[in-house]
Amino acid sequence: MEYVLLGSSNLRASVIAFGAWQIGDTSFWGKSDEKEVKEVIDYAIDIGVNLFDTAEMYGSGESETQLGRMIAKEKRSKIIIATKVSPQNCTKELLIRSCEESLKRLNTDYIDLYQIHWPPKDVSFEEIIPIMKKLQEQGKIRFIGISNFGIQNMQEWIEKGGTMVSNQIGYNLLFRSPEYEIIPFCRDNNIGVLVYMPLMQGLLAGCWSSVEEIPLLRRRTRHFSKNRPGTRHDEEGCERLTIETVQAIHALSEHLEIPIATLSLSWLKWQKGVSSIIVGCRSKKQLESNLEALLKPLDPEVLSLLNEITYPLKRYMGKNADMWENEKNARIR
Ligand SMILES: NC(=O)c1ccc[n+]([C@@H]2O[C@H](COP(=O)([O-])OP(=O)(O)OC[C@H]3O[C@@H](n4cnc5c(N)ncnc54)[C@H](OP(=O)(O)O)[C@@H]3O)[C@@H](O)[C@H]2O)c1
Repeated sequence: MEYVLLGSSNLRASVIAFGAWQIGDTSFWGKSDEKEVKEVIDYAIDIGVNLFDTAEMYGSGESETQLGRMIAKEKRSKIIIATKVSPQNCTKELLIRSCEESLKRLNTDYIDLYQIHWPPKDVSFEEIIPIMKKLQEQGKIRFIGISNFGIQNMQEWIEKGGTMVSNQIGYNLLFRSPEYEIIPFCRDNNIGVLVYMPLMQGLLAGCWSSVEEIPLLRRRTRHFSKNRPGTRHDEEGCERLTIETVQAIHALSEHLEIPIATLSLSWLKWQKGVSSIIVGCRSKKQLESNLEALLKPLDPEVLSLLNEITYPLKRYMGKNADMWENEKNARIR
């Protein structure tokens, strides 16, 4: 396993991390097989995957609870637990309580990386930053992270005296908006980049070949038409371009004899500024296949080809790094 230091911290995170949203949030992901989940978590730790990402929001705490239950006490010190506080719980009154409840559910005395899940709309950074620092001084959290912060958000956080070792953002071959501003800003300011949705929730794993086959909740991003139920962006979407792009990546993966999920993760692994890739997986088989992305570097020619294939989609999506909201209402600023 390869490891990277997250920003200025001494957190040595594996370059492939374990996304734990899938475990516990049955309303989004359906039911998982508990035995299979335990097996994949044990396997992940044994093979050196040490960063586990969850959030109080996932399954209303159930993801944290299951993770807390499944990580054996003797293995706790080997891993980095990253969880997130929801934006509506960032007030003075609620933030400390949220952190303490996460600690209880995770069955641990400390959270290694405590992240603000989305920039809160109604709570100022002046209010949040001192509380995060207090939690850190008390040893309840080791490091502060942010998630879904754009450069304006990051600049403001820094100006108000905030620190962060990482920013967690949505980034993959079908969504390259963070390349315009967020990743360069993070690189310049020594902020680790944790990537979420690296497989576009299965679309880049070859799970479906038409929009209709994609589960409803996984087709709400700006790629899909505003007429799809559950979308919030009010845009036309670019369904045809999205499917054509997936088909072209698929064709390349077949030509190279590399599974499309492996190719997609490999491409991310070689993007400058990316620290760790958080992949959601529910079986040992999926994790094993995802780890293959680390085996050998991608040929620079293949990297360029993938950049070329996905460029029209990158251009369509533009700089707005909010995958679900239009430019005007974007929560990532
Ligand atoms: N900060 C944020 O706002 C935010 C937002 C989203 C996610 N996250 C975090 O990022 C993690 C990853 O994102 P994500 O889970 O949304 O998306 P993802 O990692 O792109 O997709 C995960 C899904 O892809 C499928 N998959 C994974 N490996 C596969 C393989 N080798 N072959 C075939 N299918 C495979 C599985 O679908 P099936 O389960 O259907 O098999 C899995 O549940 C989450 O668990 C969560 O921790 C954070």
